[in-house]
Parts: sequence; C-alpha cells; structure tokens
Amino acid sequence: MTVDSTAPSQPAIENLLAERRTFPPDPAFTAQANAKASLYEEADRDFEAFWARIARERVDWTKPFEQTLDWQLPFAKWFIGGTLNISENCVDRHVKQGLGHKVAYHWIGEPGDTRTITYADLLREVQKAANALKELGVKTGDRVAIYMPMIPELPVAMLACARLGAAHTVVFGGFSAEALAGRINDAEAKVLITADGGWRRGKATPLKPAADEAIANAPTIEHVLVVQRLGDAAETSMTEGRDVWWHDIVGRQPETCSPVPVDSEHLLYLLYTSGTTAKPKGIVHTTAGYLVGTSFTHEMIFDVKPDDVYWCAADIGWVTGHSYIVYGPLANATTGVLYEGTPDTPAWDRWWQIVEQYKVSILYCAPTAIRAFMKQGEEHPAKHDLSSLRVLGSVGEPINPEAWLWYQQNIGGGKTPVVDTWWQTETGMILITPLPGVTTTKPGSATFPFPGIEADVVDNEGRSVPLGGGGYLVLKRPWPAMLRGIYGDPERYQETYWSRFPGMYFAGDGAKRDEEGYFWLLGRVDDVMNVAGHRISTIEVESALVDHKKVAESAVVGKNDPLTGQAIFAFVILKAGVEPSDGLGIELREHVAKVISPIARPKFLMFTPDLPKTRSGKIMRRLLRDIAEGRTLGDTTTLADAGVVDAIRERSGAAEE
Ligand code: PRX
Repeated sequence: MTVDSTAPSQPAIENLLAERRTFPPDPAFTAQANAKASLYEEADRDFEAFWARIARERVDWTKPFEQTLDWQLPFAKWFIGGTLNISENCVDRHVKQGLGHKVAYHWIGEPGDTRTITYADLLREVQKAANALKELGVKTGDRVAIYMPMIPELPVAMLACARLGAAHTVVFGGFSAEALAGRINDAEAKVLITADGGWRRGKATPLKPAADEAIANAPTIEHVLVVQRLGDAAETSMTEGRDVWWHDIVGRQPETCSPVPVDSEHLLYLLYTSGTTAKPKGIVHTTAGYLVGTSFTHEMIFDVKPDDVYWCAADIGWVTGHSYIVYGPLANATTGVLYEGTPDTPAWDRWWQIVEQYKVSILYCAPTAIRAFMKQGEEHPAKHDLSSLRVLGSVGEPINPEAWLWYQQNIGGGKTPVVDTWWQTETGMILITPLPGVTTTKPGSATFPFPGIEADVVDNEGRSVPLGGGGYLVLKRPWPAMLRGIYGDPERYQETYWSRFPGMYFAGDGAKRDEEGYFWLLGRVDDVMNVAGHRISTIEVESALVDHKKVAESAVVGKNDPLTGQAIFAFVILKAGVEPSDGLGIELREHVAKVISPIARPKFLMFTPDLPKTRSGKIMRRLLRDIAEGRTLGDTTTLADAGVVDAIRERSGAAEE
C-alpha cells in the first residue's frame, strides 16, 4: 500500500482537538444499560474465552463449535467445527419464541407508501424467495448479485441467499452499469436480483436498464429476478427465458424452505470496496464470526432493548446497512425503520417527521447528514417531538465536535448519549466506540476500542506512539467479524492490510490518542477519499478520467469540504491538440459519473499542462492537495520539475461544479 502524506491538514486536527468538554454517562442511563464496564475486564483477561462465551450465548448452533479461534496470521478462522444458518438465527428462532407478531421493519417508501413487515412475514417471504432462487438454479456455494433500491425485498433477498448457503454481493443502486458488471464478473454471480427501479427525490429512477447493460458484459448471469417497484412509472423490458418478475416466481412458491446449515467459516457475502488501486476489492465475510460480532456490538453500542424502534439511515448497499440494518438488528429481533428516500424530500424535516411518527428511539447516521441538517437550521427538527430518541450514533467519517454537539443538542435534546463508531467494510463490525452508559464521551472522539479489540497508534516503523501522539491506526489481534480476505486474491489481502506493519492490520487511517487514551480518528492516509461517508479511490477516478478519449493523464485528490468532509478535485492533462473548455470540464465529470457512479463525480476539475512528480515518477498528491486547498506549498525539493507547480498555480481558480 502506498502511504503518502494524505493525512488531514494541521488546522483540521487542531480544530478537532480543541473541543475539551466531556460528557459523563447519565446515572439513570447507566442503571438500565446493556453494556457494563466489566466487559472490558472480561475481554482483557482472555479475549478468546470472551468471544466464545458470547458465541455460545447468542447463536443457535446446528452443531456447536469445537475451537474458538485458529489464527495463522493473517488468516483467521473463528468458531471452528460449528454449523449454523444465519437466516434461521435472524428470523426463524424469533418466530419460534413467539415474536412472529413483532415488527421487523417499518418500511417507508419515498412517495409516502408504507409497509409493515413482521418477523412472521419476513420468515414467509424469505422462504418463498429462497425457493424461487432454487428454481432458478441457485445452490449452496453459488454467488448472487443484488442491485436494488431500499425496499423490503432487499433484506429478504439477502436472507434468502443465506438460507441456501449462497453468498450475496450487494451492489449499491447508485453504481453504474460498468461498476455492476465488474463486480458480477469478479464474483462470477449466477443470478442477479434487481428491481424495475426506485423512487428518488420525487422521481421514478429506473434500475433495470443499467442492470441490462451490465449483464451484456457479465456472461455468468443466467437469470434476473426483477422486483416491481415502479410498475407503470417505468418502461421495463424483460428478456424472455432470462428475466423473471419477483411477484410471478416468488408469489407461487411454497411457504417453507429448510435452512441449509453451513460451516462457521462458510462465505456469507462479498462486498466490494474501493482501495488504493483502480479495481475494487471483494471483501470476504463469513458466517458465524460475523453474526456474533454484529449482533453483540449492535446490542451493546446502541443499548437495544425489546421495545426500541431503531433506525439506521444508511443504504443497505454499504457495509453499515449489511451489519446494522440487516444482520445485527435482525439477530437481536429488533424493530427497525427502512427508509427508501432522502433527507430533503419532500422537505428538510422528513427524518424528524419519521422519528416522531414511528417513535424512533435509536438513530444511526453519518456526519455528512448531520452537517447538512445543521446548514438547514434547527427549526426543522424543532417542529417535531423527538423525545422518543434515547441513543444517537454516527458513522462513516470523522465527526467534527460542532456537528457532534449540534446532534446531541438539537436531535438528542441534550440528553442522549452519542456514539461515534469507527469501523470499515473490512472490519465487519464496529471496533472503536463509546459504550453508552459506561463511557465518558468527548465530542469528536470515537473514544476506545470495543471490548476484546486491541487497537494501537504506531509510527512509521510500527512502534506504538505514546499517549498524546499521532500516527497510523492498527489492530493487533483478530476479531470475529473481520474480513477473511479479498475474494480470489490472498496475496493482495496480505499485501494490502498486513504488510505495511508486519503482524498488524493497517486500517489506512491516521489517528491520535490524547493523554487519557481517547482515540481521535483523523481520516485516510492512503489514496482513498471519503466523500460524504462514501469511500472512493483517487486512482479509480483517475482511471475513469483517463478512459475518456480526450484525456492524457490525471491526478485526483480529496479537498477538505465543510459539508461532505472531502470533495473530489481532479487535475487533468488533455491530449495534444485538445483545447480545454467549460463544456469539456462538464463532459469529463459526467463521464466519471457514468463509469463509476454519480457519487464519484469530481466537484472540482482543473486543466493543467503538467503534474508535479517525484524524480521516480510518483505524482505528488500532497502538493496537489495544497494547491486544491489554497495552502502555502510545503517542501518541493524532490520535485522533478519545480516549474510545474507554478504553472498549475497560475491556473488556480479551478472550475467548480
Ligand atoms: O476512514 C475511515 C472512515 O471510513 C472508512 C471506512 O469506510 P467504509 O469501508 O466505506 O465503511 C464505512 C462505514 C463503516 C474508514 O477507514 N470512518 C468510518 N467510521 C469513522 C470513520 N472515520 C472517522 N470516524 C468514524 N467514526
């Protein structure tokens, strides 16, 4: 992994650390909290015994495991010898225990249509969908791609795959046909589950045309299962013999389908995420450890109780949705909210109206959303009764103290604990977080590693940095929900995560610990950007730009942005004879949106005659970031041609979207 100095600028760090207020837990909350301080002691004594206890208590095993952990660095196996089915753990057992009537999801469609799905409904739908997949030829060990909007059929489809022991690979509905095809091909998926489309900001947004375009380049797909969400609002073409409507095939299936018990280490899903190369990586998650890790963290960190109404406002297409909308909450028989829409449609109080109406008691969202709400003003939440809220969570990017405090004051009524949770697609579960009722929080700090997790901050040589210092965040011990690898590429797994600091998992993040040992996450230190909580590779955007026939070369950096954390800034060198123009700038941005996704569309694009490179030919992103952010340039002595920077500088005032 190339590590350059992409760490956030010093002023950003100072600002983060300037907030000195602390928030001790409210004794009344502590008295009823799920989490106890003793968890840390128990896990410290023997972390394997700790996870073994939790795994025995929380999972309905078809066959109990014989060994807790097999750790052949960097390859972990957890709960060896055990067999289970995760859909049975997420659904059947609750119905058997008399919770069939309990709501699993309050689904809220964007135009205002709603559905209530109980655990009994979920069990029936999952079994029918699993039978339909069987009819389409899906078997244990196969991969199924899922490309859907936020509708109830999405978790149903995931659980139906898991019921058969088939792995799912969910591709966020905002990704392009090209991105979808790349993921299907890497996973060699046999079936694609999609929808005619979804609703977004008041508009019907078709999805099937992109699915068709992807399949044209994805020869492994044998069948396409299509949910009808838009109906007459979209024109959907179906390919005879290949495509089937969900309501036709699922509708006529028997209502029972036995869950297939699988090994603890059986592949549960692949989720593709951006790294430091142009090709996204298929992150491998397996069954038992993932179930143990997500369900336990969910119950402890959000203090989930049987009567709670829990709303994680992420999209299921990202890991947050996998772990904390689907598997963790369902394993805990939680009642959740599933929302198809955006925070601003029909108006900026939409979320707060939902919280009031459904008496949401736990809310989990990203700092970008919070900052957008701050910008719109506190009058929007103030219009609604938010007194049902008792825990607030944050995820996906560093939360600035101002946003943390605004969230706690204006959404949490100044009384709720705020849990800032650090984790990644790779970690599967939350790893650094406060425990509500236990931890004294500091706005902007994710506080401490979860019980059983050993995190550290190290210097360039991998030496632990004393408290008060900053460096690279590493994990020094395996954890149950950790990634098991990169699909089909064990060497890349080793190289990406375990080679920078031998024996340690390098997360790609910079972090600082204060004198009291609190962790402060400082953002990525590699070539990965975090835009509105979405992880985007600079190199992926660069290759999308170079893919355009008029572009010779490009360099992309993340520029600090007050709303989205970072914004994409692209420097572009055009091919000889091509003249720069505003029109071409727009065309190139659209090209990136089409090749990857609108979330990867550069906000800033600047044409430049050259790029600053080291003598060994490496693009000096640090300098480009300085230029993008209008800072005084640092040391440029390793620059091959120092005149380049001046040339770029002269052109500043880059075109903004
Ligand atoms: O940089 C960190 C940031 O998001 C990255 C992981 O992105 P992804 O795999 O898409 O998963 C996002 C949701 C879990 C991390 O490397 N990140 C995530 N949570 C936080 C964070 N940065 C600071 N504070 C957080 N709470």
